[in-house]
Amino acid sequence: MLADNDRIFTNLYGQHDWRLAGARSRGDWDGTKDLILKGRDWIVNEVKASGLRGRGGAGFPTGLKWSFMPKTSDKPRYLVVNADESEPGTCKDRDILRFDPHKLVEGCLLAGVGMNATACYIYVRGEFYNEGLHLQTAVEEAYEAGLIGKNACDSGFDYDIYVHRGAGAYICGEEMALLESLEGRKGQPRLKPPFPAGVGLYGCPTTVNNVESIAVTPTIMRRGAPWFAGIGRPKNEGTKVFCISGHVEKPCNVEEAMGIPLKELIEKHAGGVRGGWDNLLAIIPGGASVPVLPKEICDTVLMDFDALREVKSGLGTAAVIVMDKSTDIIKAIARLSQFYKHESCGQCTPCREGTGWLWRVMERMVKGNASVAEIDMLLEVSCEIEGHTICALGDAAAWPVQGLIRHFRPEMERRIAAYRQQAVQAAE
Ligand SMILES: Cc1cc2nc3c(=O)[nH]c(=O)nc-3n(C[C@H](O)[C@H](O)[C@H](O)COP(=O)(O)O)c2cc1C
Repeated sequence: MLADNDRIFTNLYGQHDWRLAGARSRGDWDGTKDLILKGRDWIVNEVKASGLRGRGGAGFPTGLKWSFMPKTSDKPRYLVVNADESEPGTCKDRDILRFDPHKLVEGCLLAGVGMNATACYIYVRGEFYNEGLHLQTAVEEAYEAGLIGKNACDSGFDYDIYVHRGAGAYICGEEMALLESLEGRKGQPRLKPPFPAGVGLYGCPTTVNNVESIAVTPTIMRRGAPWFAGIGRPKNEGTKVFCISGHVEKPCNVEEAMGIPLKELIEKHAGGVRGGWDNLLAIIPGGASVPVLPKEICDTVLMDFDALREVKSGLGTAAVIVMDKSTDIIKAIARLSQFYKHESCGQCTPCREGTGWLWRVMERMVKGNASVAEIDMLLEVSCEIEGHTICALGDAAAWPVQGLIRHFRPEMERRIAAYRQQAVQAAE
């Protein structure tokens, strides 16, 4: 379990003042000028050495991503912060925005120095109205105090930060769709390559990072990479904000060490599963997109990128959705299929057509009004979507269905048999 003094987000529950004075009393903006003056290479190397992997879902090493930005360029260069958080089950960036916005603003500045950016845009989910207000206030406070803007922190570095509000589309959290949306166009992902570090926002070098990825970096720089790298497991270092929801006694967000056992996470912080651990049916460990895990795996699995990949799921956004034995697991996954169908931007045929197809068949599977062969067809269609679209929304739609079939096929077959039996009885 993470020691209290290893927690980065000391105002995660909003118990203290989130404004500049409160943030300063918790150590934010302390010695920022000295960190800036250590220079670009020091900042990038420190983040690389910390082992930080992106907290937006894919887990790409953050320092390495920053190092892709060109050393010299005549064009403006941008950091874009992804605060579009819309993955069902995920609500960690929201609490950072409303309760610890200065960690993000300071992180934007230091990351900007690290990647030699000229300005930063923070793209905030449309529904986060109050969170956006807190963030805007924090940005204004930072300008007034001379922490950002011209000669930020008296360091000689000029840096502007803009808050941009989205309009509530999940797809705009995908980094290339986000850039399209920021430019004023419909939020549809662009093909890669070119990658944003070469051709990003307004055709200029750009790095897109998640809120949490950026907000942890000032503390990493202040406390040193070895401190962060000493938490968690190799290649899965540091602390992580987990969101625990569903059938637990006390749903919560909590910052813990990467690699904490899933069972310990739920029992120590969320008051345990409703009705006790033995009443657990399944858990989605990383937000709606990742495959569901049955209880047997949840008993022992660790919560990090590599451990969850080994059991054919993923850490994703670290949003833990707990379902006890009262859950209709087929209905739960069918509801997710509906979500992905609704949120597909429609650009790629496999996703546009496939997500609707998955949803319609899943709705029949809920009732059992299907044939056993259709379970295989469902799996096949999900595999036709996976990896065949411009962005990962297609994968996100396919994986929950694949996880259901992998672990709960007997329940799907049982329901089909029960439906048939009922139909036969009704005909007699
Ligand atoms: C459909 C879709 C939605 C996404 N939504 C978000 C989001 O809300 N926030 C986020 O940080 N990343 C989201 N991502 C991942 C981003 O594309 C990108 O990988 C991430 O912002 C990179 O930040 P990181 O390297 O700091 O993790 C989404 C990806 C997809 C495919």
